[in-house]
Amino acid sequence: MTGSRGLHVERLLPDDWARFRQVRQQALRSDPDAFAASAHRWLSDLDVEARWRERLEAVATYVASLDGTDVGTAGVSGEHELLGMWVAPAARGTGVAARLVDAVARDVPAGTPLHLRVMAGNDVGVRFYTRCGFVLTDPEPDAEGCLTMTRPR
Ligand SMILES: CC(C)(COP(=O)(O)OP(=O)(O)OC[C@H]1O[C@@H](n2cnc3c(N)ncnc32)[C@H](O)[C@@H]1OP(=O)(O)O)[C@@H](O)C(=O)NCCC(=O)NCCS
Repeated sequence: MTGSRGLHVERLLPDDWARFRQVRQQALRSDPDAFAASAHRWLSDLDVEARWRERLEAVATYVASLDGTDVGTAGVSGEHELLGMWVAPAARGTGVAARLVDAVARDVPAGTPLHLRVMAGNDVGVRFYTRCGFVLTDPEPDAEGCLTMTRPR
């Protein structure tokens, strides 16, 4: 999936775990408030090669690179939940995030809704997802403070 101007979106496999670790931990350190407390375990007890490999087996994970530098990531679980969306600050507002949503959506069977959870108060995230066609389906924060959004298909 090569795009124009050096943007490349590709799926990572378990052997790519160290590359995923780098971009995922960069996301958690760059934007800690955007991710639920459970996600931060990837900086501590889950930061083990076997756990990263399991994650890449369980979640179809994509990374976006711009001129060879990883600038974003997103994945989709078997339950059709969009997970771990992040774009590096320097690459925001360039369409990278939408390309990642497109890649993830292609992994979801036709007619199947795509779900996500976004931290209440992440207004930039909610506006981005709304532009991508997601609607708030549960505006009440869950136990981790997340709202649920769904994109009907
Ligand atoms: C949510 C996210 C993936 C959206 O990606 P994006 O590239 O910023 O998306 P957009 O291009 O649609 O721009 C989003 C906003 O940033 C603004 N923006 C434009 N250029 C920008 C830049 N260079 N830097 C920062 N923001 C910029 C856009 O105008 C837009 O603002 P608006 O909603 O007030 O109109 C990204 O902001 C991000 O990674 N945020 C931190 C992690 C996060 O929240 N993840 C979601 C977890 S559920």
